[in-house]
Amino acid sequence: MSAFNLVKTFYKYEAVKNTSNQKFKIKNKTIKKEFNAVDGISFKVNKGEILGILGPNGAGKTTLLRMLGGILTPTNGNIEINGIKSNNNINEFKSQIGYLSGNTKLYGKLTPRELLRIFGKLYTMNEVELEKSIENICKLLDMDTFIDQRIANLSTGQTQRVSIARCLIHSPQIYIFDEPTLGLDVISSRDIISFMKKEKDNGKTVLYSTHYLEEAETLCDRIIFIHNGKIIAQGSPKELKDNTYTDNLRDAFIKIADIGGDVFEL
Ligand SMILES: Nc1ncnc2c1ncn2[C@@H]1O[C@H](COP(=O)(O)OP(=O)(O)O)[C@@H](O)[C@H]1O
Ligand SMILES: [Mg+2]
Repeated sequence: MSAFNLVKTFYKYEAVKNTSNQKFKIKNKTIKKEFNAVDGISFKVNKGEILGILGPNGAGKTTLLRMLGGILTPTNGNIEINGIKSNNNINEFKSQIGYLSGNTKLYGKLTPRELLRIFGKLYTMNEVELEKSIENICKLLDMDTFIDQRIANLSTGQTQRVSIARCLIHSPQIYIFDEPTLGLDVISSRDIISFMKKEKDNGKTVLYSTHYLEEAETLCDRIIFIHNGKIIAQGSPKELKDNTYTDNLRDAFIKIADIGGDVFEL
């Protein structure tokens, strides 16, 4: 996958303080301001690689990943997967991607099997293909014991596996996981991390965002660090540490970004 000069412009409304004579009640004014949540990001990621998108809250990680996943249209720039351009053929582009975010909603009344059938059909998979895929996923994620139980009755860890299963159904080549371990207990996080590693070994591409720097340090082959919508550093965890004469990613980034340590809510 490659991305070239991606930009996403949003609007924000800023309050303008009313400094005029307070005898007259005049409502505070707001002005509409444009800003780039993602501001000219380009990169390439290869098969069999885990690329970490790191940065403090508000850096633009989710906005970037949503554009890469074909969910949000870029204001500018383009994205390509093996010659398929997102702005030419969005459906084919999306079929290459499995997108997971921490707040993916599932339908509690359905069973995992029913949910997977619905999503498989959305991806226009045929019956035989779909049932085979469900069987494989069930084995891969060890879902045998609960695949026919209502999702509402499952534990957090099991629900997380259903979310992963959902984005696997169409056998995507690229996974885009937005803060997948946020708020999870150790065991559920470990399951997700081992899944990403396994799929990397199978030659898939994984893009993953987090603000858990220690987690990313052990998992990622390469890291892109973003701040205010821009890439401010990239490289392997070792390169980033060596270049900044630090022994952990957190210190490396604080040095690079010249920001206070409290920017990361860890
Ligand atoms: N739909 C939106 N409309 C306006 N502003 C947005 C929207 N989505 C995100 N933003 C703003 O864009 C910036 C980047 O947000 P986001 O991509 O969610 O950052 P991160 O995932 O790194 O925390 C933030 O300032 C956020 O408030
Ligand atoms: Mg986010």
